[in-house]
Amino acid sequence: MPRVGGGFREFERRIERERDSWKVRKKDSDDRKTYAEVFDKRNLLRIYKLFSDGVIDMIDFPISTGKEGNVFRAMTSDGDLLAVKIYRTSTATFRDMAKYIQGDPRFEGVTGNRRKLILVWASKEYRNLMRFTKAKVRVPEPVAHHDNIVVMEYIGTEASPAPMMKNVALDDPEHVASVLLEYMRRGYQDAELVHGDLSEYNVLMDGNDPVIIDVGQSVLTRHPFAEDMLVRDVTNMARFFRKYGLNIDVEQQLREIRKR
Ligand SMILES: Nc1ncnc2c1ncn2[C@@H]1O[C@H](COP(=O)(O)OP(=O)(O)OP(=O)(O)O)[C@@H](O)[C@H]1O
Ligand SMILES: [Mg+2]
Repeated sequence: MPRVGGGFREFERRIERERDSWKVRKKDSDDRKTYAEVFDKRNLLRIYKLFSDGVIDMIDFPISTGKEGNVFRAMTSDGDLLAVKIYRTSTATFRDMAKYIQGDPRFEGVTGNRRKLILVWASKEYRNLMRFTKAKVRVPEPVAHHDNIVVMEYIGTEASPAPMMKNVALDDPEHVASVLLEYMRRGYQDAELVHGDLSEYNVLMDGNDPVIIDVGQSVLTRHPFAEDMLVRDVTNMARFFRKYGLNIDVEQQLREIRKR
């Protein structure tokens, strides 16, 4: 049972208290603006729904403040950790979102305003997480989504969220590269998805194991952009692993990934 008593007002006060405890630097007006935006009335009501549905029990602290949204660590009433990604509804990147959604048969007929598009975007990320998970591509397991909010498995330890691949010295880069290439192959063959923004920024390291994140823009392999996105993903990986002295042959990997 979630420990939510006292209805929305009490919930609002709890969130206030949490937010104060994050010690957002008072001078950092960007952070302050961000939190004012994330915790506007609309989002508070959406988060409240996740509380009252028993999906989460408390938002612990922000993990990341990105261009498109904020990621928070949260906890269930059983004490399990989750990650909660809340997309901004007022960013300029929505033009880019439109072109990924158009051309995706799953979202045929979806047009219109930015707010609507972002709700679709979050549901797209959720569905992509499902497809990747089913295809045994390691991504955070999806837990729930509601409007512009995606709740998923938290990658990391009690002490800290998992670092980006960019920020760690890999013990066994060859292993990590081959796992990632295998994930791209499974993604393509089994999930019929191309990540589309794969880089050392969107891979978290769970110990020695890579976990791919940020799949909102991932498209079906039959999307008109899919092949170009795949080439970019493989090229990014080749570029990154070159730093470790690995020589990934992009053309050969593309053949492996596409092989029927
Ligand atoms: N499931 C998760 N578990 C732990 N940390 C996560 C999880 N998902 C995201 N993060 C953290 O939040 C950051 C941003 O997540 P993500 O890349 O999905 O969002 P984004 O909107 O693309 O943000 P950015 O613009 O910063 O890339 C990640 O770099 C990672 O540090
Ligand atoms: Mg990202």
